[in-house]
Amino acid sequence: MKALLNKKIQENIPEVLPVIPTMDVVVFPHMIVPLLVLDEKIIQGINESLQQSKLVLLLAAKKQLDTQGAIGTGDLYTTGTIASIMRLIKIPEGGIKILVQGVCKAKAAEIIAKNESLRARVERIEMQHDDQDDMVKHHVKNIKTLTEKMSIAGQAFSPDFHMILSKMQDPEKIADFILSHLNPPVEKSQELLEMDTLSEFLGGIYQELSHELESVEIQEKIRNDARESMNKSQKEFYLREQLRAIKKELGEDDAEDVQELREKLEKLLMPEQTKAEVMRHLSRLERTSPDSMEAAVTRNHLEWILALPWNVETEDNLDIKHAKQVLDEDHYGLKEIKDRILDFISIRNLKKDGHTPILCFVGPPGTGKTSLGKSIARSLNRTYARISLGGVKDEAEIRGHRRTYVGAMPGRFIQALRKAESSNPVIIIDELDKIGSDFRGDPSAAMLEVLDPHQNKTFYDNYLGVPFDLSKAIFIATANSIDTISGPLRDRMEVIELSGYTLEEKLSIARQHLINRAIEDTGLAGQKVEISDEILGLLASNYTRESGVRQYERCIRKLCSKIARSFVETGKLAALSLESIERYLGPRKFEDDEAVKHNMVGIANGLAWTMYGGEMIKIEAILMPGKGKLILTGQLGEVMKESAQAAMSYARAHAKEFGID
Ligand SMILES: Nc1ncnc2c1ncn2[C@@H]1O[C@H](COP(=O)(O)OP(=O)(O)O)[C@@H](O)[C@H]1O
Ligand SMILES: [Mg+2]
Repeated sequence: MKALLNKKIQENIPEVLPVIPTMDVVVFPHMIVPLLVLDEKIIQGINESLQQSKLVLLLAAKKQLDTQGAIGTGDLYTTGTIASIMRLIKIPEGGIKILVQGVCKAKAAEIIAKNESLRARVERIEMQHDDQDDMVKHHVKNIKTLTEKMSIAGQAFSPDFHMILSKMQDPEKIADFILSHLNPPVEKSQELLEMDTLSEFLGGIYQELSHELESVEIQEKIRNDARESMNKSQKEFYLREQLRAIKKELGEDDAEDVQELREKLEKLLMPEQTKAEVMRHLSRLERTSPDSMEAAVTRNHLEWILALPWNVETEDNLDIKHAKQVLDEDHYGLKEIKDRILDFISIRNLKKDGHTPILCFVGPPGTGKTSLGKSIARSLNRTYARISLGGVKDEAEIRGHRRTYVGAMPGRFIQALRKAESSNPVIIIDELDKIGSDFRGDPSAAMLEVLDPHQNKTFYDNYLGVPFDLSKAIFIATANSIDTISGPLRDRMEVIELSGYTLEEKLSIARQHLINRAIEDTGLAGQKVEISDEILGLLASNYTRESGVRQYERCIRKLCSKIARSFVETGKLAALSLESIERYLGPRKFEDDEAVKHNMVGIANGLAWTMYGGEMIKIEAILMPGKGKLILTGQLGEVMKESAQAAMSYARAHAKEFGID
């Protein structure tokens, strides 16, 4: 019906029509467009047209024109669209608004500009439907898919755009429909309007759409990028939320974690002030994002606090008889030392919360210092922890690192307490004399603080950040030599010296302790392993040379493992002979000390002492021409020099008696 109407209109187009210039828009046939007209001359033409055919010629203006200025004929394109006026509204402020519908393409063959009006002699242009039907179909299909792509890429079409488009058949109408939504720039539209053949026209539209799609995609990408950078923190937040959800699903919920931590921390029996401080840390943890570095640090810190034995104490067994029994079980001999230990326990018996002196065992390696400490813990029924100070130079090893430090840890004492699982353990401070000092501070100063009963009640570890009471612990120090321990530190302690064992003592220790332990450890328990005194003596004097029994114990253990192996291999215990020892342990490492048996001129026997025990040495004197001075070679201590001088004086004093010059 409408098409028919259109046809009728097309057949009755007058030769001359009023011209309406259009700004910023090219109207195509099949388009319905509202236009605002202000120019009196144009309004005049419209009014004329309304009284006759109601048709006008729409010609696009070539460029942005000043609406106030008069439009010259040269400013207009000559190819345009004939349109019928559908409606007219007068605007109170002046001017009119019209709604026009395109009818067909036309050319202004001649523009007739008179004073009062703008008119043109029109020539209809038919779109040429060439034979390229396939091409047209192809273009239509492509155009439709492109619009879909554009939608996906983010182009905002009206809601029913695709629905309408899918129902359209006429390629020309499809083209105009798309153009009305696309609004290409005027020059581009005009170019399209001037195209002669349908396939050319559609191809142009397809190209235009592709450009549009590209720019839509770029725009979308830019938008996305912007969104991405702007919302980075927001994105992180979402990811975190997701992570939390995942964790929750896996039963690793942080919130629950913190809640659990709170419950546990609340149960700790600690001084009120300390608790307040700990709770402050906890609420900070609750406030920080659970995946931040800070949260990890705080959580670690709180876990340390949780792991400490606040208010956990073992009950002492102060029974002297029991203590004596335990000490004897673990160690042979050492009567004097055991007595001192029993004295120490007696003092604790009488003065339960008094400050007991700090014992310091000093002696050569392997004399049982460390193991005595362990025995004391056992005899008192206390837990035990050992701190080795060998090579410690950094003060933070004692006082703890500050938590801001990467990989910060509490100091050794707090670590020991955690290991001991009780706040009153026996803490063995091993190798106290090996403590060093450098630019990172003086650990022995920190040690003073730890060992001072007035200060260690509120021992402050930098990592922990809250005081911990160390005063209930019993400290036992060990050292090889007292000389390298600083004066103030030495004054705090009661020094007990272990001097080393004689060969006889070593044999007894072996018989009573070392052999049994070695047999036990090598799985020979229950077998009749016999090691003669002769062999034990050989091990002590020709395979080891020490004042303690550490190497000796190792030697016996090695021998036992060899016996075990031969037992497994042959099925029977071979009797040990002096030769088989050499086979098992290799050649002797030391020969017996060779004393100078007869008087020889210039050579004398000497005894020396080192912190590893006694030595026998040969001292040789040489007579040479000179001024009668005694020269002492080698690195000799003051005592040695003195002895030599004394010998010289003696020789001089008694020169006559001996008949020397
Ligand atoms: N008098 C002893 N009785 C029994 N075993 C001993 C004796 N003295 C030392 N030991 C043992 O010797 C080994 C080394 O002792 P340890 O305490 O480590 O020596 P230190 O700490 O003095 O260097 C330990 O196995 C210990 O049991
Ligand atoms: Mg030791």
